[in-house]
Amino acid sequence: MAFSSGRHFLQIPGPTNVPDRVLRAIDRPTIDHRGPDFARLGKDVLAGLQRIFRTRQPVIIYPASGTGAWEAALSNTLSPGDRVLMFETGHFAALWQEMAQRLGLAVDFVPGDWRHGVDPAAVEEKLRADGRHQIRAICVVHNETSTGVTSRIPEIRAAIDRAGHPALFLVDTISSLASIDYRHDDWKVDVTVAGSQKGLMLPPGLSFNAVSQKALEASRSAGSKRSYWDWAPMLRANESGFFPYTPATNLLYGLREAIAMLEEEGLENVFRRHARHGEATRQAVRAWGLEVNCADEREHSGSLTAIRMPAGHDADQLRALILERFDMSLGQGLGKLKGKIFRIGHLGAFNDLTLCGTLAGVEMGLALAGVAHQAGGVTSAMQHLASTSAAAKK
Ligand SMILES: Cc1ncc(COP(=O)(O)O)c(C=O)c1O
Repeated sequence: MAFSSGRHFLQIPGPTNVPDRVLRAIDRPTIDHRGPDFARLGKDVLAGLQRIFRTRQPVIIYPASGTGAWEAALSNTLSPGDRVLMFETGHFAALWQEMAQRLGLAVDFVPGDWRHGVDPAAVEEKLRADGRHQIRAICVVHNETSTGVTSRIPEIRAAIDRAGHPALFLVDTISSLASIDYRHDDWKVDVTVAGSQKGLMLPPGLSFNAVSQKALEASRSAGSKRSYWDWAPMLRANESGFFPYTPATNLLYGLREAIAMLEEEGLENVFRRHARHGEATRQAVRAWGLEVNCADEREHSGSLTAIRMPAGHDADQLRALILERFDMSLGQGLGKLKGKIFRIGHLGAFNDLTLCGTLAGVEMGLALAGVAHQAGGVTSAMQHLASTSAAAKK
């Protein structure tokens, strides 16, 4: 391929663009992971993560992608044969469900249309029907990266409480942590699963479990076989800032810097920024006359927007054309949505002009690909950004 001048536009919904400050932080000599400097780094990032997850409970860091943290959450808390309740919100919920099956769990997988989040009323109904409390865990993907739909975790928590059910609550925040409001303690989540490569603005390679006391209690009797993922040796080593095996030292330098950046901006501002960019993107989509995949106003994602392709057009051809002409990567439709949608990531290190550039690439691509639409999406987004820019800077 010919050389492309300027930065590639990586507008997939993760991995996200890694800011220069984080890259510079990673670009340092690796240190002895059993020495005193490491202990300081370990303690800093473990404490910082508690603030990001909004928890006083332990957060565990794995040198693994998010899928590893999914497995850790299930294998530390459950035993083969345990019943778990999961919801088909999209591709990632389906993959987590497949993993649960492979680990020998008995999954009740509630079907979904990939345009809605988890219905709190359906959670309550399922739990009320389980009078003998056989369901051991409820697993929910907070932000379905494959559909651009965000489930309402506080309402789901309230539904569990109304049903008076003791099941563990496991939540995947891989594409919502540090992008969409999330509170591990206030929402009484037992295991929160997350990853480094999205809102945390790091390269791929780290993943996390935030763990409640109830989950820790469950882990003492959980019968699933586990070794690498076992929380117990990790928590023992973490007490003094160390890890039971070689940590991803340089990614932890980056994590310390990313936490500092998020706190300099302020988490509430980070959430508002993402929501505002989501709204501006939807205004562009509406002006184009296209359809947002998310079908419920309460569930629009601040991390990404999934756009449905008009009939007769292949979203992957549009993405290929935009990549070739404008050096921009957009997210593809996954699983059932392959070719039917494309996804614009607006999470992580991102600002108003990055969004304008992204939407301009899409609008030019739609015209070149001959997709019927009205021009003016970028203008609509710009108007929204301009009219809300003063408030966004407060
Ligand atoms: C919501 C969600 N869950 C799980 C995963 C899987 O994580 P990983 O690819 O880091 O293993 C992803 C990846 O994009 C995701 O978006």
